[in-house]
Amino acid sequence: MAEHVKKQSKYSCDVLIIGGGSAGLRAAIEAHDAGVNVLVISRSKRGDPHTTLARGGINAALGTMDPEDNWMIHAADTLREGEFLADYERVEILCKNAPDAINELVNWGAKFHREKDGRLTQRFFGAHTYRRTVFYEDWTGQEIIRVLMEQVNQRKINIIDSVYITKLLKSDDGDITRERPRPLSSSATATQEEQVVKEEEEQGAVKGAFGIDIEKKEFVTVECKSLILAAGGYTRVYEVSSSRTFENYGEGIALAYEVGVDLVDMEMVQFHPTGMVWPQKAEGTLATEAIRGEGGILLNSKGERFMKNYDPERMELGPRDVVARAAYNEIISGRGTEHGGVWLDVTHLRKEVIQERLTTMYEQFQKLDGIDISKEKMEVGPTAHYSMGGVVVDINCRTRIKGLFAVGEIISQIHGANRLGGNSLLDTVVFGKIAGGKAAKLAKQGVTGTTKKTEAPSQLKSNVDNQKKEFHDDYFGGILVVKEPIKFRNEIQELMKQNAGIIREHTKLQDGLKRILELKNNFYSNKVDINFKEFKIDGNNYENIVLTWQVKSSLIACEAIIRSALMRQESRGAHYRSDFPKLDDKRWKVNIYCGKKGKGVSAAAAEMALFKHNVKKFKGPLADFLKSHVKAAHHRTFE
Ligand code: FUM
Repeated sequence: MAEHVKKQSKYSCDVLIIGGGSAGLRAAIEAHDAGVNVLVISRSKRGDPHTTLARGGINAALGTMDPEDNWMIHAADTLREGEFLADYERVEILCKNAPDAINELVNWGAKFHREKDGRLTQRFFGAHTYRRTVFYEDWTGQEIIRVLMEQVNQRKINIIDSVYITKLLKSDDGDITRERPRPLSSSATATQEEQVVKEEEEQGAVKGAFGIDIEKKEFVTVECKSLILAAGGYTRVYEVSSSRTFENYGEGIALAYEVGVDLVDMEMVQFHPTGMVWPQKAEGTLATEAIRGEGGILLNSKGERFMKNYDPERMELGPRDVVARAAYNEIISGRGTEHGGVWLDVTHLRKEVIQERLTTMYEQFQKLDGIDISKEKMEVGPTAHYSMGGVVVDINCRTRIKGLFAVGEIISQIHGANRLGGNSLLDTVVFGKIAGGKAAKLAKQGVTGTTKKTEAPSQLKSNVDNQKKEFHDDYFGGILVVKEPIKFRNEIQELMKQNAGIIREHTKLQDGLKRILELKNNFYSNKVDINFKEFKIDGNNYENIVLTWQVKSSLIACEAIIRSALMRQESRGAHYRSDFPKLDDKRWKVNIYCGKKGKGVSAAAAEMALFKHNVKKFKGPLADFLKSHVKAAHHRTFE
């Protein structure tokens, strides 16, 4: 039955934020407090973004439990876990600002766990030198969202949820040529980096976004002076993932890529060692690292504590990539459980500890699997959990498009080749604050670059009306419907598991790339004609527009993952090549970039160009500290 939709909503604001998770909300608060009019557009329901799934905690070198800790040791752990692929200046910003970020959340009412004497409790997470993960039971992300939402509500910041943004609007809708010198040389300073981004900004400016309200079934356009993308990562391109089925297909990175922003380190996908493997409907759902932080152990089907064979020193609290590959190896070597996992065991812990500190896990396993984890073991296995790669931004979260910023899991170069547990919630609030402040500053300057007097935030203008004359064809460029998008989605997820999963090698990657390119071809030839000018969209097609957008985004993310994984002929952090099992700093201490080739090419025809560049050389006090600390503690060469 055809449904004729003849309306659209139009909004205007100074700073538009796409994404209602902790990065987006923290940015919104900062931008609002800088005196601009902010609008948050979120695909998920307000207060229920992906952040609510973040369980175990948020890091800061507060030293409440281990007074020897400090930000430099936190930074050293972060860089080492990321196998020195991260940008040390961003890591420095992250770790230096961590204590203030926690204090801010506490002052806003976050009820983090405390010791009897009132100190904030900090627990161990994998590969940290000291206990530095602050937590609220085992649903820290939800607590942070609660607190940030309260701040957003107090400020009456506008949020529109259930809106799927499908296209960013630019002042020149031309593309970016690839001749420009980028990225920076490895010795570039932060100031030089800012200058390069400024020059590149001449290529075009963002002016808004276009999308679909999937509840109201109407088109939405938003005009803005600056725009912050906080739309998450791309781990849902894998079938087994800790993301929910409606999130993290790389939608944000696709939006940025389409307007000419490069992607970097896309091959770096983190597999968390302990996702649920049973019941099947819950496959991939996170069994938090906090379980191991509180003393949980991993066993194979023979009852052996197998981590002694992979990381005898740190055992279950080794780096995530090491523990995930160890579990995977046990499973494929025939020492897995009935449903293809390994055992995670806390039955030796006191029930009160489990119920107090692992509350959600206790309930989750009870509800989904009918088991009491204080009496029975949990069946777990690796699950795609975090995207270390993402869009290229400078240290102020600016992309090369004027007015376009990005923050949260969508960006890269903070966690390098592997992320420390507890650092992602931290990165969202630290860099969310920075992005919000910078976007507001730019919005206040206006498009001409001259500083305008700050105006009080004004009412949003919303016209739910026929405004056909304001629509141009290119607004609809982001909207596609293909026949049976679910089939494409399933095929992509299957091929990513088989060809570009936790263990990779040349032939499989090559085959995976071939199949992705074939799928891309089929996808665009399966286009359904839609009469957008008449605003006529069949009712069923609304769902298909969203699914199609997920597939289109996945195709971009997967092509970038596979191409980069093929190029990187070594093993580093989360990227493991069985044909190149060693880390090779001489050849591969580089970041791999992916960009859209050619000027004005459509997504269907766009080719992806790859280029690499040396990781920025470390300088300053952190560099000196790292030389001694990292060498002494972990025998890794460090330049
Ligand atoms: O296992 C966890 O609770 C995950 C935390 C993280 O990825 O930071």
